[in-house]
Amino acid sequence: MEIIFPEYYGWCFGVLRAIELTYQTLEKKNFPTYALSEIIHSPQETKRMKERGLNFILDLSQIKDNSNLIIGAFGISSYLRSQINQSKITVIDATCPYVREVFYLTEKLKRDGYYVVIVGNRKHIEVQNILSYIEGEAIVVDNCRQLKNISLPHRVGVVSQTTQPINTFKKVVSNIVEKVKEVKVHRTICYETVKRQASAQDIASKVDIMLVIGGRHSENTKNLHRLCKRINVNTYHLEDEKDLPLKMLKRVQKVGITSGASTPQWVIDKVVEKINKYKALQK
Ligand code: F3S
Repeated sequence: MEIIFPEYYGWCFGVLRAIELTYQTLEKKNFPTYALSEIIHSPQETKRMKERGLNFILDLSQIKDNSNLIIGAFGISSYLRSQINQSKITVIDATCPYVREVFYLTEKLKRDGYYVVIVGNRKHIEVQNILSYIEGEAIVVDNCRQLKNISLPHRVGVVSQTTQPINTFKKVVSNIVEKVKEVKVHRTICYETVKRQASAQDIASKVDIMLVIGGRHSENTKNLHRLCKRINVNTYHLEDEKDLPLKMLKRVQKVGITSGASTPQWVIDKVVEKINKYKALQK
């Protein structure tokens, strides 16, 4: 049985940066360190951060002055941002620069008089944060069918959650173009996402079974799973090696493995180790 990896998978630039900033802060041990949400969408890495001293809290009232607050890769809402600015907390901002750019561009679209359409998952923390910067005045869609019964004003600005599939974005934009006079489009899907999705799909078409490793709440992992499943029905989303569908490996020649942008390499290694043990037992 052969294991094949795509050209691009695993930690992206924004996740790596957030992880480094977090551990550097924890190592200093100068003040107690807090976070209001996961730093990245990886249950395993979140557990490790807790073990090294990161405290998760629900709101800022739980923090005293002289504390560190780490902002995760998906950023924070405008409301929290202004609360923090008025406090004496030391802020370590690990917001991915690509995510920060979406906040800025969305705010600007509204300021310039465009009605904003966000292509993304409304429940995801990144989209919730984008909405906060424009007081929720936007519609959020994750496919063009959702636009069917919506009447849009003449000037529409479109942005995307950074991890959306490019084809979904293109379909929504072309649907809007047919409906309104003026459309301003910011293709805010990050390049790391595009590369990972394209190379995962390439591998999915060449293997008997495709494994996508990553947190259940990770939007980019869910998108990778969805895209690969369209190409290869034998695609499975695993959070770690415990979810490995061993029964499905019977008579399999080629296994493809990819992972979400937040998935640590050691989680991937454990899956590979379990496959190799299974292979050895089959001989
Ligand atoms: Fe940033 Fe793109 Fe990663 S938005 S967190 S570099 S997937």
